[in-house]
Amino acid sequence: MNATIEKLLNDQVKFEANASMQYLSMASWADANGYNGVAEFFYLQSEEERVHMIKLVKFINERSGKVIVPEIDKPQENYTSLNELFETFLKSEMFVTEQINHVIYECLQHKEYNVHNFMQWYVTEQLEEEAVARTLLDKLTIIGNDKSGHYLFDRDINTIASVNQNPE
Ligand code: FEO
Repeated sequence: MNATIEKLLNDQVKFEANASMQYLSMASWADANGYNGVAEFFYLQSEEERVHMIKLVKFINERSGKVIVPEIDKPQENYTSLNELFETFLKSEMFVTEQINHVIYECLQHKEYNVHNFMQWYVTEQLEEEAVARTLLDKLTIIGNDKSGHYLFDRDINTIASVNQNPE
């Protein structure tokens, strides 16, 4: 595998690992603050990001590349509101999308068409995750500071999120 592409895929392993730990931290904050539905949502997101990470690790190995298991950045621990929590979620997903687009651009420059093909799965995944984050943030903007609205949001988060989730 081209060395630049191998490095970019290893960077992506780190970004997915960081996202997994960030969402674990968010789940834990929600759990501690009485938002059990939001907590379950982020525990699951954290698992999903771990799956994204492992998929990359296996792919690099399959292609006889060298996997560098990364050091993980310390995630943000405290949030002032549900709004801030979901703004952080959207920002994190937008960052990952940007990085994936960069990998795809470089794959074309280096004629790494197999990797380009493999990365298409991540493009689809990012579209869905960004849409979920935007939908949830839009709902929170409508709710504003209404406590009973937050209660219902926490109760119904999976139904709200499922509007954008692939039924597969
Ligand atoms: Fe795997 Fe949502 O980044």
